[in-house]
Amino acid sequence: MRWTTWKSLAAVAIMVAPLMNCADQPATAVAPEANRHAPPAPRNVLTPDSVRRLASGRAIFPLESPRYIRPSLVKLGQALAFDKILSGNRDIACTTCHLPAFSTGDDRSLSIGQGGIGFGPHRTIQSGVFIARNAPPLFDIGAMKHLFLDGRVQVVHGRINTPAGRDLTPQMRRVLEFGPASAIAMFPVENRDEMRGYSQNDLGRVADDDNTRIWSTLMKRIGDVPEYRRMFEQAYPGQRFERMTFAHAANAIGAFMVDKLTFSNTPWDRFLEGHDNALTPAQLAGAQTFLTIKCSICHNGATLSDDKFHDVAVAQIGPGKGNGASLRDDFGRENISNNESDRYLFRTSPLRNVELTAPYGHDGAYSTLQSFVEHYSDSDLKLLAFDPSTLDPSLQGTFMPNAADILAQRDTLLKGVVLSDSIVTNLMNYMSALTDDRARDLNSLVPNRVPSGLPVDHP
Ligand code: HEC
Ligand code: HEC
Repeated sequence: MRWTTWKSLAAVAIMVAPLMNCADQPATAVAPEANRHAPPAPRNVLTPDSVRRLASGRAIFPLESPRYIRPSLVKLGQALAFDKILSGNRDIACTTCHLPAFSTGDDRSLSIGQGGIGFGPHRTIQSGVFIARNAPPLFDIGAMKHLFLDGRVQVVHGRINTPAGRDLTPQMRRVLEFGPASAIAMFPVENRDEMRGYSQNDLGRVADDDNTRIWSTLMKRIGDVPEYRRMFEQAYPGQRFERMTFAHAANAIGAFMVDKLTFSNTPWDRFLEGHDNALTPAQLAGAQTFLTIKCSICHNGATLSDDKFHDVAVAQIGPGKGNGASLRDDFGRENISNNESDRYLFRTSPLRNVELTAPYGHDGAYSTLQSFVEHYSDSDLKLLAFDPSTLDPSLQGTFMPNAADILAQRDTLLKGVVLSDSIVTNLMNYMSALTDDRARDLNSLVPNRVPSGLPVDHP
């Protein structure tokens, strides 16, 4: 079926999709050999076709592969993503927190920014601090409309909207080829605790609200490296480096992420494209569960995220975003929309390659995938009984006693949801079909060297 027709049919189907309670256990019996001329299978009978129908009913589609991107742009973006030249004290790169060795996360509940030492779980604070949120994977970001866990780099009415407002000039916008994915790299470099640092360096000395100066200072640094000038001019044929802005750098990093980290060849994609045997029987049964209970009301679309914001009763840990009386809370989407009804809402996480990207939740408060799935069962009681003892010892004391406030905002879909052990197992089996084998080992993405000559982090 053509993409457009499929999509519009699905739009109709999703409205009539059964909103079953998570506790309603779907039947998992496998139907006898499918027969083209047989009457349609009754609801709840498990066949590959019935599962594909459920998927399109919930607007779940295979992920499209990214279009061709010129290799010179991807190569430039790769160099920049691994180069500590983008950080104030030249001590941290994008990939210090988004490490290929840890599926483009850092295997920590909360990242440690500039001033820290070491990699991933072994990184220590030194003169750095914890960042308020978990470093999410960089997978499939070209397919999402809202980036960052509160969606602050987003497409609104077809236009990219960012915290930089008008400082992202029309000339800069014209450079961005991949939507929000090509703008996002303009922001970690501004954050003092993540990358920029304080008065010890040229970037740190720029005032906080002076986006333009921060970006031009970065371009000056980059332009001092002749190899980078050549790479920029190759990546943007016919343009002189002197006339380029940091949007050209961010767009290149976006190109690298979209080209190298979009993974559209999972068993689930192959199954949706018609290969019945792409899923094991357990994965097929798991898919039916996922598609008939409430999970897929929020986790849908090609990335398995509705690209919207919900409160799903996740425990709050860490330094927070300066919210609430203690200034240690994180109000999530409210910080962007200024709308109190968005308090504690975070973007629905995409679920591709999710088995590789522990820990889970916007602040990494859940160390295993199973514990995150289990938290949906009686999520109110689970939040009230949250046990911080599984966390990094230095974060255990940061657990916020704000369960009542979070529960007051909890999405009504979660009310009354109880998941049996067998449903949890089924859901885990389904999510195991969302992994692209190529995402299991990303070490080939790490370059041997970067143009600045600074060391490349590679645990
Ligand atoms: C100190 C660790 C750290 C560094 C360095 C860092 N990030 Fe991140 N990154 C994070 C954290 C934490 C988040 C989540 C922040 C939030 O949502 O508020 C994030 C979010 C993102 C996202 C959003 C993903 C999504 O699902 O929406 C992208 C893309 C990204 N970073 C790319 C980059 C790039 C490119 C750089 C370098 C310019 C970079 N990051 C540097 C920690 C880091
Ligand atoms: C009301 C919408 C909604 C429903 C229903 C829902 N989710 Fe979620 N899911 C979210 C949101 C929002 C997040 C991010 C929450 C956060 O980080 O605070 C999330 C996060 C997750 C994560 C963590 C991913 C990561 O990378 O951290 C997993 C796994 C997950 N959901 C699986 C499920 C499963 C399985 C179900 C069904 C039992 C389900 N979800 C039901 C909205 C929903």
